[in-house]
Amino acid sequence: MIAIEVHLDADAAAAMAEDVRAGLSASPKELSPKYFYDERGSQLFERITELPEYYPTRREREVLAGRSAEIVAAAGGPGTLVELGSGSASKTRHLLSAMRDAGRLETYVPVDISEEITHETARTLVEEYPGLHIRGLVCDFETDLERIHSDGEDRLLAFLGGTIGNLYPGERREFLTRIAALFGPGDHLLLGTDLIKETARLEAAYDDAAGVTAEFNKNVLAVLNRELGADFDLDAFEHVARYDAREERMDIRLRSLAEQTVRIADLGMTVEFAAGEEMRTEISAKFTRERLECVYAEAGLEMRGWFTDAAGDYALSLARPIPA
Ligand code: AVJ
Repeated sequence: MIAIEVHLDADAAAAMAEDVRAGLSASPKELSPKYFYDERGSQLFERITELPEYYPTRREREVLAGRSAEIVAAAGGPGTLVELGSGSASKTRHLLSAMRDAGRLETYVPVDISEEITHETARTLVEEYPGLHIRGLVCDFETDLERIHSDGEDRLLAFLGGTIGNLYPGERREFLTRIAALFGPGDHLLLGTDLIKETARLEAAYDDAAGVTAEFNKNVLAVLNRELGADFDLDAFEHVARYDAREERMDIRLRSLAEQTVRIADLGMTVEFAAGEEMRTEISAKFTRERLECVYAEAGLEMRGWFTDAAGDYALSLARPIPA
């Protein structure tokens, strides 16, 4: 049984225009990482996940492949799996299979911005898991989180891939607080986070030898050229990826190679870049277990499980609302 609700924002284009205008008017300039992911950007990200230097995706898959039964048991054997940013649900199958094997699996709620991928994933999964109910939500999970409704079953809400790392601390606290507010006493969050490690490995993961991450980063300029009639010259910028140890995050930027003027036709805007000027395009926060316990506490959550790969590079943690 498949039911998919679509709540796409008719004003997404206007929201992007406003967001980009604000980011390019700010000092220092900044763009949101959410604009990386057009078709080409999504393909480039797929290639990043296969790079030798980019370990997070492989490590997360290792944890899910090896420890999903433990995770599902620690979450109390939920009947419903909700997944934020479900995409093709390739890693999710480990959780669904563990829920099935525990005799609990009832419902999968994929939440994703792409209607096409969500339908496709739903069709494949009902074949792989006979009797599975799929209640998909096509929406922007950041704005539309509250559309996720309880069906009375205990839920496991998975937010994988380390995407939480893209949020600034204040945004992260707000987002986790909203998740906590949706939760009943039997619900759990399963959160994927990259962990702090040697700077050289972190920086290599975001500045690979083949230059795929550089291309991914510059692709945001191609998105602005197409969507907002901008005239960014992609060759006039270079990729910068540094670990900021004080803030415990990767800081990813585009550096202007020369003094230049960029026109954004649809915004009626002209933007000046100085030679060497850097514009942030993404942060990717890195965690320790202790730090994450504090992050959860600030949002009214408590950690109930900690699952890492053998090398200790990446963690999936389980959290639930602090009991009243
Ligand atoms: C998809 C946000 C988890 O932060 O590692 C990969 C994005 N950016 N290489 C990450 C990304 C550059 C990725 N997330």
